[in-house]
Amino acid sequence: DQLKKIDKYLFSMRFSDDTLKDIMNRFRREMENGLGRDTSPTATVKMLPTFVRSIPDGSEKGDFIALDLGGSNFRILRVKVTQDKKQPVQMESQVYETPDDIIHGSGSQLFAHVADCLGDFMEKQKIKDKKIPVGFTFSFPCAQTKLDEAVLVTWTKKFKASGVEGMDVVNLLNKAIQKRGDYEADIMAVVNDTVGTMMTCGFDDQRCEVGIIIGTGTNACYMEELRHIDQVEGDEGRMCINTEWGAFGDDGSLEDLRTEFDREIDRGSINPGKQLFEKMASGMYMGELVRLILVKMAKEGLLFEGRITPELLTKGKIETKHVSAIEKSKEGLKKCMETLTRLGVEPSDEDCLAVQHVCTIVSFRSANLIASTLGGILARLKDNKGVGRLRTTVGIDGSLYKMHPQYEKMCSGMYLGEIVRQILIDLTKRGFLFRGQISETLKTRGIFETKFLSQIESDRLALLQVRAILQQLGLAGTCDDSIIVKEVCGTVSRRAAQICGAGMAAVVDKIRENRGLDHLDITVGVDGTLYKLHPHFSRIFQQTVKELAPKCDVNFLLSEDGSGKGAALITAVGCRQRELVA
Ligand code: BG6
Ligand code: GLC
Repeated sequence: DQLKKIDKYLFSMRFSDDTLKDIMNRFRREMENGLGRDTSPTATVKMLPTFVRSIPDGSEKGDFIALDLGGSNFRILRVKVTQDKKQPVQMESQVYETPDDIIHGSGSQLFAHVADCLGDFMEKQKIKDKKIPVGFTFSFPCAQTKLDEAVLVTWTKKFKASGVEGMDVVNLLNKAIQKRGDYEADIMAVVNDTVGTMMTCGFDDQRCEVGIIIGTGTNACYMEELRHIDQVEGDEGRMCINTEWGAFGDDGSLEDLRTEFDREIDRGSINPGKQLFEKMASGMYMGELVRLILVKMAKEGLLFEGRITPELLTKGKIETKHVSAIEKSKEGLKKCMETLTRLGVEPSDEDCLAVQHVCTIVSFRSANLIASTLGGILARLKDNKGVGRLRTTVGIDGSLYKMHPQYEKMCSGMYLGEIVRQILIDLTKRGFLFRGQISETLKTRGIFETKFLSQIESDRLALLQVRAILQQLGLAGTCDDSIIVKEVCGTVSRRAAQICGAGMAAVVDKIRENRGLDHLDITVGVDGTLYKLHPHFSRIFQQTVKELAPKCDVNFLLSEDGSGKGAALITAVGCRQRELVA
């Protein structure tokens, strides 16, 4: 029943098979646009040539450094590739911090930081005196005309350092290294993380000709026929294309499928209007999407009803003087609003009237009780005196008595505020008061990280555990609330997995057509925290690919070693090419 009520918020996020097929076809058209000579300059999906022409063939060898910047970790690796059959690749790595002020500061600061970390790493590896070839995994869209030059097209995800867009990142890094002057580095290749992942997996499986990342951001690359790549000379052989599918939809082509929540995410992002597909599908945005849906539901009273603020739970927070003020008919409602706001709630006018009513009842009851007790005392006094009618004066004082507008009927007040508070807690719990309240936590952007989504959706968790996770997040609710939250998470992640699946289906089916095959057997190298950690994402994603590209048998290979290994293998090829030229 509860689930039906929330359906109106979720149905636009549930895609039919036809819609998914439609997304696949639209993406296929975007790919063609990005590759074509006339259409590529203005294409939304950039389809960037990478100058990687083949997957590893096993002949690679050498000692390399790989930089891996742009995912959730900035990592530096030393990768040794040998011909040793048992352990051909040895890796050592270290993760370095990339503080927000660096990724949002100036480009020179960012690259100085990268150069500092690299210096530190080389020092630790005791190779500062050597000039070791470096492969740079830089997980952003870059225009390349060769392996060792990469002009940043635009920042995506969390990064926005000034003065880098439109510049060659190899040049910027080289300058930063030269400025330090204490070591040398030879940056041989700049590699997108999808390409690095494809190469990492390609080392173990020669059929791996596609790479995909579903992590902070999402993107895919694949081996395209050179004759279809108009931007690059030559017709023979293949080249890896970095699709940059995160930008799919930036020209409005997904408008009919985006919801008010997707638009809100975009408005609040550091790159409005950009990466619209990525904002529907990747880890950086999914938790926030869930939060925005929950806020809307809570506002409309469908979720987290009866939420008690910490202030309301604090003893002594409503004092009797507040009760008196609230009851004053003239400014009572205003006072009521003030008092309740101090209690951390945002009351409606109805709430204020109800609270005023509660105050009146409590103080009347108090007055009545005390008056009747006093009546008992007076009756006894009358009997003692043996008179028919007692004429006496009662000395009376006290702040409540003096301040309260109906002081004549009232006598005591130490506990009135507390009584009112208890009643308000009870009425709130029952959902009579303060409906649709949103906690400060729920209002906080970014509070709902995608890792919570993965936890909440885990089948191993009982509802009570889901509730406990929500409580830890400061989102206390009932079991019904937990069911709703789980449903929202499931809907958001399912949609993400399906649309990534639709994109992937378009890619593998294009490869099949390129090769004129009825049936294609292919391996896709996959990486990214969302894909790895989410309990259902990979299953739904793979199922979608299977349904939309029935003529392709796709084997998904999880990259265990990150894209650093792949970057080193590409660097090895780069070294070989240089030797050939020389
Ligand atoms: C890592 C790769 O394994 O996955 C990175 O080495 C890549 O290059 C990352 O960016 C993507 O995942 P996430 O979840 O960290 O963005
Ligand atoms: C973003 C970047 C892209 C990268 C992806 C995954 O979409 O633009 O280059 O591959 O994130 O990290």
